Amino acid sequence: MALVTVIGTQWGDEGKGKIVDLLAENADCIVRFQGGNNAGHTLVIGEKVYKLNLLPSGIVRDNTVSYIGSGVVVDPTALMNEIENVTKHGLSVTPSKLVISESCHLILPIHKIMDGAMEDARGDQNIGTTRKGIGPAYEDKVARRGIRMIDLKKPEILKARLTAMMAHHNAVLKGFNLPQIDVETIYNDLLKAADFLLPFIGSVGPALDNAVKQNKNILFEGAQGSLLDIDHGTYPFVTSSNTAAGQTGAGSGYGAARKAHIIGLAKAYTTRVGTGAFPTEQDNDIGEHLGSVGHEFGTVTGRKRRCGWFDAPAVKHSCLVSDVDSIALTKLDVLDGLETIKICTGYNFNGDVLDHAPCHIEDWEAVQPVYETMDGWMEKTAGAKDFKSLPQKCQDYVNKLEQVIGKPITIISTSPERNDTILRRDFFADTVNLAA
Ligand code: GDP
Ligand code: IMO
Ligand code: MG
Repeated sequence: MALVTVIGTQWGDEGKGKIVDLLAENADCIVRFQGGNNAGHTLVIGEKVYKLNLLPSGIVRDNTVSYIGSGVVVDPTALMNEIENVTKHGLSVTPSKLVISESCHLILPIHKIMDGAMEDARGDQNIGTTRKGIGPAYEDKVARRGIRMIDLKKPEILKARLTAMMAHHNAVLKGFNLPQIDVETIYNDLLKAADFLLPFIGSVGPALDNAVKQNKNILFEGAQGSLLDIDHGTYPFVTSSNTAAGQTGAGSGYGAARKAHIIGLAKAYTTRVGTGAFPTEQDNDIGEHLGSVGHEFGTVTGRKRRCGWFDAPAVKHSCLVSDVDSIALTKLDVLDGLETIKICTGYNFNGDVLDHAPCHIEDWEAVQPVYETMDGWMEKTAGAKDFKSLPQKCQDYVNKLEQVIGKPITIISTSPERNDTILRRDFFADTVNLAA
């Protein structure tokens, strides 16, 4: 039996979809435990490209069951569209392949309206959210006025809860000078969605417990990245859930998830979509180069991602918060052809050199990166599957990252394609015992 968690250690889009899909070969259950359809996870399998938002990345594998845990906020319309879309591409999504926790909170159209209204009201202080209603849905959850999957089973209870929830939102809409929303319309739409969704609803924690008792392998798939964590990220420029590995138990209902081997995903450089601190950002030719070679455009919103050098203090902060055991390094090939490559090894702050992340956003914004410059390599590494086949300068870069982060780099990804990956089996086999 093995439990493995994959989380992002930067600001998201580290390549979680690709790595989860790769590891899913030897997994039986794939579990999302936070976030919603703000996530965009890309899988490239031969000619096929899947961009998944809510569906766990195991959905493309026949051998896995996908679980959406209670920590995830689910937009019923978005989920139905996504299921319809992947079905058109030949995948089968049935209740025996997908289980959605009865405790998941729903994202309703009001949440998207509120997301947009609050972003607009923030003006140039906006967070740059995906406007998918994520923050407002989590707000309602925490305020104890949210609607859950289970409520779809009992129409009278659903209607009473919706009425109470909309009394709050209609008052806020009035304050924003926006039109009121009729409870009846939302109610009728949800009843239609219920017909489709109810067969998928189940209890996730007990199902995972049973799977483990049958010696099955479970893979927890994080969304976003640790620097977007509501508690430990660049607050307030963060998402509205805990993205760190500690959330796996609470967000799935299977507390033993804490025993998982934790793989922290890191790009070989850094990107961020949305506003907020980014000490190593390269708003120059280097950033443009990384963005164009790495095709750095948001999977969900299509926005251009901001790009910069690898930020070791930020990744170390994430490793600490999530107790990362090993690192999967992605997009190494994007650095091919650069004369020199910089690594941020510390932050200059008020005359001190910090090797960790500050807490206040104002301090995050004020730090000056301390860089170590390394020689680049001209050879092409895309598609490499063996560490020793990498140019020596490229190996030196990976070894240096391992040293500055202080964690072993067990997986290296060299292209979007599932199989273009280096597994450093010497310690991979020992530490991530996912072997079938
Ligand atoms: P996620 O949100 O963490 O799953 O990442 P995204 O899918 O949003 O963004 C990662 C992008 O990089 C996707 O387009 C992937 O296909 C692509 N990708 C993943 N690994 C590699 C890699 O090693 N090299 C290159 N060039 N692209 C990669
Ligand atoms: P994956 O799983 C990158 C960012 C948004 C914004 C902030 C808050 O693909 O890595 P939200 O809509 O969550 O309230 O937006 O978080 N963000 C992401 N950035 N990858 C993601 O997911 C993201 N999900 C949210 O851009 O800055
Ligand atoms: Mg993404």
